[in-house]
Amino acid sequence: MSSAKLRIIVTDNEKDFHQRAASLVVETLQPLDNPLVTLPTGMTPVGMYRVLVAEYRDLPLWQNLRFVGLDEYVGLPPGDPRLFYLWVARECLDPLSVPLENRMRFASDAPDIDAEAQRMNQWLLAHGPLDLAVVGIGGNGHIAFNEPGTPYESGVHALTLTPESIRSNARYWGREDHVPRRGITLGLSNLAAARHTIVLASGAGKSEILARALTGPVTVDVPASYLQTISNVTILADKAAAEHII
Ligand code: GLP
Repeated sequence: MSSAKLRIIVTDNEKDFHQRAASLVVETLQPLDNPLVTLPTGMTPVGMYRVLVAEYRDLPLWQNLRFVGLDEYVGLPPGDPRLFYLWVARECLDPLSVPLENRMRFASDAPDIDAEAQRMNQWLLAHGPLDLAVVGIGGNGHIAFNEPGTPYESGVHALTLTPESIRSNARYWGREDHVPRRGITLGLSNLAAARHTIVLASGAGKSEILARALTGPVTVDVPASYLQTISNVTILADKAAAEHII
């Protein structure tokens, strides 16, 4: 392991993975007053959200949680079910009753998406840094929509998705041509400033990229390798995803 700062937890099975993810989130948030959190979409965190809702719904902390979107598609109307915000709201924020006024979401349909990125960046400068970033990892090493080649100092920005990300996100929408081509995302500098980071990785399909990110060179070719440069990172992986790092 190239960094002593990474804490790696490997779970035995799917159930443990989701349970542990949920308890890590709760343990991190509970001591904090008004924690600012960003949360991922994707298949990986869905079980964690179910556990949070089933077992931790009654905790008072959700009333004080402040949520900011991690990434989003560009160009969709505010009610489009493909929106990442609506996904996280459905799976987690609504059932946990996180107050609407505590949720900062991207305006996917903003007429000037670069201005929208600036707005979000300014908001984070004023209200951040993140207390907790929970992130997944894309098959190409992307974190949120920070695609390979994204500079480490990037703030919130709009981007064109790589063909690989379009392909991998097609599984949520049935067809590749249903996947929007543009995205907007918190940048690596916003994420690197987080006081705590929890990375979720499950399945054999993530094992190689996880190893490259955590034990390979720190390079913009693998955006997730920024994790080696920051503190308070917990990697939660199932056995299949952890195959090359343990
Ligand atoms: C999308 C999201 C990422 C997410 C990734 C992994 O690209 N923009 O935030 O981490 O998918 O998704 P999955 O967990 O389904 O593998």
